[in-house]
Amino acid sequence: MSDQIQLVEMGPRDGLQNEKTPVSVEARIAFVVALVAAGLNTVEVGAFVSPKAIPQMASSDHVLRGVSHIKGAEFHVLVPNEKGYDAARAAGAEVVSVFAAASEGFSRANINCSVAESIERFKPVLARAKADGVKVRGYISCVLGCPFDGEIKPKAVADLAVTLWDLGCYEISLGDTIGVGTPLKAKEMLRAVGSELPIGNLAMHFHDTYGQALANLYAGMEEGVRVIDAAAGGLGGCPYAPGATGNVATEDVVYMLEGMGVKTGIDMDRLLAATNEMAGLLGRPPVSRVASALNAKRRRLGNS
Ligand code: HMG
Ligand code: MG
Repeated sequence: MSDQIQLVEMGPRDGLQNEKTPVSVEARIAFVVALVAAGLNTVEVGAFVSPKAIPQMASSDHVLRGVSHIKGAEFHVLVPNEKGYDAARAAGAEVVSVFAAASEGFSRANINCSVAESIERFKPVLARAKADGVKVRGYISCVLGCPFDGEIKPKAVADLAVTLWDLGCYEISLGDTIGVGTPLKAKEMLRAVGSELPIGNLAMHFHDTYGQALANLYAGMEEGVRVIDAAAGGLGGCPYAPGATGNVATEDVVYMLEGMGVKTGIDMDRLLAATNEMAGLLGRPPVSRVASALNAKRRRLGNS
């Protein structure tokens, strides 16, 4: 359990994609800069999707270009199809993520096609990425439940993970999009995928809607998974998953890991500063329990 954990920061993409308050390109860039300065060396910074569908992610090309000078960090962007891949590459993307769903209902709502059609859209993206030397991460949404189709069988997740892996994805990020999972279900799903693919190439992408994300991450760590997606401040959610809240908060994950003796290399003060800056722009306090606790402690100390 004390092995190195790789955190993949989701705040600027999964976090901001569902926020109603518009955030300027400059503020999005500053957010990424602050997160990298806090020690997060892998950050998803945007999405090359339809701006009509997700206006929050418009101008992701400017964000990506605006952070390209930062050394020592890897920047990821979402691409749903070749059009997105073209735009991402034109902006300098070296790592892109395709995103499929374990359920037909969510696939249709999110990217307006069936699961099989989405795979057909990804094939040319992966072929071109291979030729271009671009790394491709693969997401699977709704691995522990779907807002439209209900329960999801672990086997369905494992089969899709194998498909994405065979297409050339270097890592498969398993998304509990609506945060309904519980630890034993998370284990069962991870075991099913881990029996088909190397556990070291799986990531846990758990939203915290029902407050289960940390428990589920711990369960997944027990199974050997070592990559965790998290969003600073617990920002965001998916606009196509009714009622879903943000990813597990990066602060909460860092606090848990450090408390377990796992070194994350994250500077909590700097991370909290980045989260508080964004919370100020959004006009509401962070939902992260650790950020709330640390902010309250600071206020107490400031007042004493
Ligand atoms: P579509 O309507 O099927 O596609 O949308 P289309 O090819 O018919 O094109 C329709 C319009 O979109 C056209 O524009 C295209 O040019 C444009 P119009 O003629 O109407 O002006 N278009 C694009 N524009 C910019 N970039 C593109 C692109 N492709 C087409 N790449 C599409 C299909 C996927 C584009 C659309 O449904 C879409 O953008 N959906 C948004 C999906 C999204 O971003 N969802 C949130 C992220 S996924 C997530 O949060 C889950 C995750 O976190 C894991 C988890 O938690 O589970 C990853
Ligand atoms: Mg997500």
